[in-house]
Amino acid sequence: MMRARIIGVGAYAPKRIVTNADLEKMVDTSDAWIFQRSGIRERRVADESEATSDLAVKAAQQALERAGLVPDDIDFIVVGTTTADMQFPSTANFVQHKLGCRRIGSVDVWAACTASIYSLAVGSQFVQTGKYRRVLCIGAETLSRITDWTDRGTCVLLADAAGAAVLEASEGESGVIDADLYSDARHWELLYMPGGGSRNPASHETVTAGMHYAKMKGNELFKVAVRMFGECAGAILERHGLGVRDVDLFIPHQANLRIIEAAAKRLGMPMDRVFVNIDRYGNTGAASIYVALEEAASTGRLKRGDLVLLAAFGGGVTWGAALLRW
Ligand code: ACO
Repeated sequence: MMRARIIGVGAYAPKRIVTNADLEKMVDTSDAWIFQRSGIRERRVADESEATSDLAVKAAQQALERAGLVPDDIDFIVVGTTTADMQFPSTANFVQHKLGCRRIGSVDVWAACTASIYSLAVGSQFVQTGKYRRVLCIGAETLSRITDWTDRGTCVLLADAAGAAVLEASEGESGVIDADLYSDARHWELLYMPGGGSRNPASHETVTAGMHYAKMKGNELFKVAVRMFGECAGAILERHGLGVRDVDLFIPHQANLRIIEAAAKRLGMPMDRVFVNIDRYGNTGAASIYVALEEAASTGRLKRGDLVLLAAFGGGVTWGAALLRW
């Protein structure tokens, strides 16, 4: 079977930086509280003119350029997102058009923050089966658009960004080795956005009640996240006869530094092999792992042949892990 090799990565973060000091002026919080509880110092927020697909296109263009490809070379597009431009068409559909691709298939994957792993898994399956030669996988979010900026429990965490990876069929060792995906909607009330869907269609009432904002039980989610993260990361390694010692770099979803540290501890992974950039970007949902992957690659933290472990969790709840050979 073919392996889906990552031949180019790209990332884009909006220009506007919102620091913890800026948030101190908006809600009852402090830089010290935010940093101690989450590890975040600043985050990016999209300009009013920027929708999720605009961020996605910029990340994709960089990934294509680095892969030495043009949009015509892409056979399929998968976008992981929780903050689509519209209910429909899909964000991937807009990306296909704005990039100037052929009339190829494109689809959004909804799995909250785990849509990073889900989108990579979907894209790599198409490559592995031989259906498509090159697939563009993207994680993109404008979480600021579903953030209640008066709710200190969420507004200090959520942020905007996009990341992209070009997958190409390869017979070599490099590429996505495996991906495990999980969900359990018993916990759906830990993180969700109630308004705007078929359960609560948008109306004056839903807007007045703030149902178009993300709702989160942060403390409970924290405990579930640490457990799921550690378990799925350990399970995928074990199934492949690998251990933590074999992993060159662990790239977790950047939700909260304390969650990352607790999950790494549970796994027995030393923090010097864990990639962290949440201090500068906050929680960018489905984008976070792609953005981290791009930074790890462009700063030389990743070397050819490295074994990379990815793991994410998010609303739903959803969680998952992937293994790749760089
Ligand atoms: N500034 C100051 N105080 C605050 C803030 C804030 N921004 N937010 C909450 N507090 C207060 C609370 O009101 C509470 O006060 P009380 O004790 O008087 O009631 C106190 O701080 C402690 O609140 P906790 O919720 O227990 O704080 P915790 O240590 O759990 O940290 C946090 C909160 C950062 C939200 C943490 O629970 C967390 O990160 N959870 C996971 C969230 C997450 O990862 N979500 C995204 C996952 S999926 C995705 O990525 C989209």
